Amino acid sequence: MDQKIEYVNDGAEFHEIDPLLLNADSLMDFSIYERQPYQNDRYRFRCLLVDSSSIPKDRLMGLLKSWGKVYIHKDQIEKYHQYLKDNLAYILKHDEIDVGKKTDTLINLSRDVVKESFETNFSFPAVARQSLENAQRLISKAVEFISDIKSLNGIANLIGHDYETHTHSIKVGWLMATFINSNRELFNFDKAHDLKPFLIQAAVAGLLHDIGKIKIPPNILNKNGKLDNLEYIIIQSHTAYSASLLFDMDIAKHTMQAILYHHENEDGSGYPTGLSREQIPLIAKICHIADVFDALTSRRHYKEPKTPFAALKIMTGNNPYLDTLKKFEQEVSENIKAPVTAIVRDDYDIKLRRLREREIIEQEALKRVEARMKLRDQGMSHCFDKSLLKRFIITINKSESFELSGLL
Ligand SMILES: [Fe+2]
Repeated sequence: MDQKIEYVNDGAEFHEIDPLLLNADSLMDFSIYERQPYQNDRYRFRCLLVDSSSIPKDRLMGLLKSWGKVYIHKDQIEKYHQYLKDNLAYILKHDEIDVGKKTDTLINLSRDVVKESFETNFSFPAVARQSLENAQRLISKAVEFISDIKSLNGIANLIGHDYETHTHSIKVGWLMATFINSNRELFNFDKAHDLKPFLIQAAVAGLLHDIGKIKIPPNILNKNGKLDNLEYIIIQSHTAYSASLLFDMDIAKHTMQAILYHHENEDGSGYPTGLSREQIPLIAKICHIADVFDALTSRRHYKEPKTPFAALKIMTGNNPYLDTLKKFEQEVSENIKAPVTAIVRDDYDIKLRRLREREIIEQEALKRVEARMKLRDQGMSHCFDKSLLKRFIITINKSESFELSGLL
């Protein structure tokens, strides 16, 4: 730890933090200070805790509760933000932390996600700062809405379950709102003031679109490697789970449509209901495009991110193996076992033979899943509404698309 035990200054170098946000179960790699008055508008900052690992957990919990305001040095603010990110689920679920503080913490971290995405994928120097601030404001309002409808617990569970899904959801919400703002003529807004709540609801749809994933076992959701057919079916159930979790909440109809139908494909090969073309609600088609674009361009623990260009190439590509791909998809939706090409006949121990046969069936299923994923990356144009996808490409290529000034 390179921080000093004591500082005397005007306080500008220190940030006040709430000790309740600190988790006694999670080691902190930053120092915590208390502030005492000194002379002439100066303060003495005295270190309370240098190494949280040196104190027994019960004693640390007692200390955290007994402290009022505490401070950290500005040089360690990055470490503190990372700590909040790692402990976000804990904070959102903590009964003694009030909803306002939980919402603020979630908003601040969500703003960081937008900032990072803005810097990685979309660098438009002329409008970047203003656009970024507006995008951050939009996400803040969407998070406020979610805390109002008492859905913070669901978000907390999602974060605890899978932080990557949460950051992805923030970006999907922002991309959806950006698209709608640039393509207002698609929605017949009667009055200009109809637009603002609609953009916020679109961001809410993005934030909540995968919330049903909290019902999917973590070993399937975070599996390193390809999912087998049964696991793929279980994953698909997240759309219905999302809708059921939010059923009693005060959610707008179009938000619910986006959540329930964001995996429907234009040609009817999607899920949960196999809707096609005009049967799929417009907002769900937009959510689908934003969802796939962000999934392809994001880094995941099991894959490198694709560039926006490479992602759009996949999304607009006509798949030359569509028939085979559809056969595989149907196999999955009907949970048909992969046909086995090799049968073990030369082993006379029945038990061993069955085990070996099962092994072969599983290997075959995995091979087919792998083939399906490879085929999918050859082109996904059958999944999307062509004219909407074209509009999406134009939208993300125009710097002014990200400008939401005066709307929020
Ligand atoms: Fe999804």
